[in-house]
Amino acid sequence: MKTALYAGSFDPITNGHLDIITRAASLFDKVIVTVARNAGKSPIFSIEGRIDMVRETCNDLKNVEVSTFSGLLKDAINSFDADCVIRGLRSVSDYEYESQMAMMNRELNPRCETVFFMPSPKLSYVSSRMIREIAAFGGEVDAFVPKCIEAKLKERLQDNASN
Ligand SMILES: Nc1ncnc2c1ncn2[C@@H]1O[C@H](COP(=O)(O)OP(=O)(O)OP(=O)(O)O)[C@@H](O)[C@H]1O
Ligand SMILES: [Mg+2]
Repeated sequence: MKTALYAGSFDPITNGHLDIITRAASLFDKVIVTVARNAGKSPIFSIEGRIDMVRETCNDLKNVEVSTFSGLLKDAINSFDADCVIRGLRSVSDYEYESQMAMMNRELNPRCETVFFMPSPKLSYVSSRMIREIAAFGGEVDAFVPKCIEAKLKERLQDNASN
């Protein structure tokens, strides 16, 4: 039984994340998607909102579970009893950050091995940050996020506008 942990801020989950989750779910017995509480970012969606969106998006993937964590990934791997961490690689800039993080995590905890997945090329330029920026200015994001997320983004941004 091999379990992989996919950690991220998922603010919101995109088709890029979903691509990575689907690939991992076909190779591992179980994938636990963990939504980080302390991403060092100021998320636009609450932790509960982000978890619900990941749950809704991954509903059809039967070996995918959704959870949350705060603290360090090297500790999360032990508490979820996972075999490795999975991350996505979009570009050289991801590689620089991700390789450093993977090596540091393994240094801190030899059990914390990282497995990387490359997305479909047509999703390699998708990030949550860009989705947030496009949606904030009323642009179309339907090609980059699941339908239910598109609706939630509109709702969230309308809330903002009325505040
Ligand atoms: N389109 C994508 N293709 C492949 N991997 C991705 C994609 N988007 C995110 N990832 C990977 O998912 C993991 C979690 O990333 P994260 O939650 O920061 O998403 P993000 O899209 O980079 O969000 P943000 O823009 O807010 O930083 C990272 O390993 C990241 O490289
Ligand atoms: Mg990121």
